[in-house]
Amino acid sequence: MTQDELKQAVAAAAVERLPRDGLIGVGTGSTANCFIDALAARAVRVRGAVASSEASAQRLRGHGITVVALDAVDTLPVYVDGADEIDSQLAMIKGGGGALTREKIVAAVAQRFVCIADESKLVERLGRFPLPIEIIPMARAHVERQMIKLGGEPRLRAGFVTDNGNIIVDVRGLDMSAPSALEGEINQIAGVVTNGLFARRRADVLLLGTAQGVRVIPSEAAEP
Ligand code: A5P
Repeated sequence: MTQDELKQAVAAAAVERLPRDGLIGVGTGSTANCFIDALAARAVRVRGAVASSEASAQRLRGHGITVVALDAVDTLPVYVDGADEIDSQLAMIKGGGGALTREKIVAAVAQRFVCIADESKLVERLGRFPLPIEIIPMARAHVERQMIKLGGEPRLRAGFVTDNGNIIVDVRGLDMSAPSALEGEINQIAGVVTNGLFARRRADVLLLGTAQGVRVIPSEAAEP
């Protein structure tokens, strides 16, 4: 199976697990796009969707799915999104597509985070994928210096502006042996909006696309 077929398989698996007629949170990226398309193709009825980016909102609307503002909801039963890397504890690096801040906000409101990913995203330890950090533009040099102190190699994502009007610096080489601690430490730096570690609000379930089929982690028998 190609990587695209694996993404489509996990997207379809996520659609099958959705509560009917409910509100959903929708992530950003190529796997999330497969999920949006699968929602439309299978004509699954949802009451509305909260999008984690302008791009996803536009795609949802293009399929005739109602986009709801996050402020208009108290809670979301489920949030479905991809990841750039995910480990066996379901901590993730996200933000390759630059939507990490809105993704983190929507995920924070959701009761359940369903990560959909092809098997190339499952890693033993996070950190090969450079960590995206959304930064208020005037703080760039300051944040980069702090990243170097932490052992990282920061690089500005050239020509990229987030949906929130900020910049992104991608950082290689950080020690991610304690991802929750690192997530908190980086978020304390003045000028950082948020970083792409999702270790504190990690996924609740991973639907992993493999050549042998969609694996559910933790296995459904083990879920509460
Ligand atoms: C968007 O900002 C990201 O967090 C994506 O969810 C993540 O990069 C996965 O994207 P793909 O599904 O395109 O690999």
